[in-house]
Amino acid sequence: MKRSLKDETSQPHLAQARWEQAYLAFETPAAEQRKFIRRLNRLGQATWPRSARIVELFCGRGGGLLALETLGFTAIEGVDVSASLVDCYAGKGQIHVADCRALPLAAASKEIVIVQGGLHHLTALPEDLATVLTEVERVLVSGGRFVIVEPWLTPFLQLVHAATRVRVLRAIYQPLAALATMIDLERPAYFNWLHQPGVILELFASRFKVVKMRLGWGKIEAEFVVSKGGHR
Ligand SMILES: C[S@@+](CC[C@H](N)C(=O)[O-])C[C@H]1O[C@@H](n2cnc3c(N)ncnc32)[C@H](O)[C@@H]1O
Repeated sequence: MKRSLKDETSQPHLAQARWEQAYLAFETPAAEQRKFIRRLNRLGQATWPRSARIVELFCGRGGGLLALETLGFTAIEGVDVSASLVDCYAGKGQIHVADCRALPLAAASKEIVIVQGGLHHLTALPEDLATVLTEVERVLVSGGRFVIVEPWLTPFLQLVHAATRVRVLRAIYQPLAALATMIDLERPAYFNWLHQPGVILELFASRFKVVKMRLGWGKIEAEFVVSKGGHR
């Protein structure tokens, strides 16, 4: 059955189902694993204790958690609001179906919090981001790490956006078609995020000490540390 844009606007669950289909089709689980392991290497996982209590927020189908498991981490949890996506996860970590603006986790219970491609789904910026950061601060121990990878409006990402608008490229390169669908369905939140870099960076800096930050290839990759006594 063909769905129209009107159906999706009036029935958000249809848009959600279509977004999840595109997300699952974007890359194979094997390609996704290679990507997550490369990222975690860049983010310094080799220096993290294997017993570190880690939670991945906005964990989706759990590919990031599987990568952590492959790397030998033993105390991993994930949080995502989509029951259907977390159902795809078959790893050993504990999963919570919940909104990351109200984490079902105890205070000072984690050494590391990771987010990969979730913050740009928050609909109200900067309010929702501030709420999530307050939750991250709450669940981290003093000195705990907060690691993020999110889209960032670099020239490369602008080029990718331009490519998603070219029908023939979408037709010959399936990941581009999947990306175009995802962007289309998450458009307000996605562009709201991409167009407020200053507000976002200021908010991070007001809550955490920046350990490292790299902007490139359409992404921000950063590591922050929380100091419960304040870092300023
Ligand atoms: C782009 S996906 C990223 C998933 C995963 N981190 C990955 O890289 O494969 C974004 C995820 O955020 C989830 N999400 C969106 N808003 C959320 C919220 N407020 N609380 C928890 N999860 C949320 C969606 O269900 C989706 O799984």
